[in-house]
Amino acid sequence: MRIVVATRNRGKLEELASLIGSLGVEVKSLDDYPHIPEVVEDGETFAENAVKKARAVAGATGEIALADDSGLEVDYLGGAPGVYSARFAGEGRDDRANNEKLLGLLRGVPREKRGAGFRCVVALALPGGKVFTAEGVCRGIIGDQPLGEGGFGYDPLFIVPELGKTFAQLDMGTKNAISHRGKAFALAREIIAGLLAEENRAAGDGEKKHSRMKDIGGSF
Ligand code: IMP
Repeated sequence: MRIVVATRNRGKLEELASLIGSLGVEVKSLDDYPHIPEVVEDGETFAENAVKKARAVAGATGEIALADDSGLEVDYLGGAPGVYSARFAGEGRDDRANNEKLLGLLRGVPREKRGAGFRCVVALALPGGKVFTAEGVCRGIIGDQPLGEGGFGYDPLFIVPELGKTFAQLDMGTKNAISHRGKAFALAREIIAGLLAEENRAAGDGEKKHSRMKDIGGSF
């Protein structure tokens, strides 16, 4: 089985390859299909964007495609920035400006009202049109100052209460084990394992049919 991951981001690809590599699946990325144009992420939900990207890549490659979309939902802001997380402070994906904007909007808001969640939706599209989705959420609290050097995006502001640390203060393995993306990818891995089992069953049935035909042939 071959899966095309709808990303040109090496980090994301490596993270996913390490998760599903043990299944014996061949993992490709958009770098292997340079002719495929960027898909515009204009959906109103993470699921809409992930499904749109996965469908487009499955259609263009004829292979199973996997895409994800994620972002931060802050309770006090009614779920914003949500699907606008990357461009919260304007076009151009500026992590520092996004964090400053978020801190400004939450200035003076007490800790008990600073709850937030990272959400990630993974979509797996089959070339025939069937689509599966998996979702992961990680709850936390928005701090009142950036802490930590690791990660990206809103990581320096996102405190995991159980650990008393921000995502940016965790090593990648610890973050992946509890993160929205880690959870969604783990569920996606189970979907892929299920598809593989189905494929093997179908291949087994095909073989059985084939050998039965041979049996019949032999009896003539
Ligand atoms: P994407 O789904 O990778 O395009 O992420 C969209 C945006 O959500 C990113 O640009 C970040 O601003 C934010 N985001 C998603 N996941 C994370 C995370 O694990 N840490 C910090 N920010 C994140």
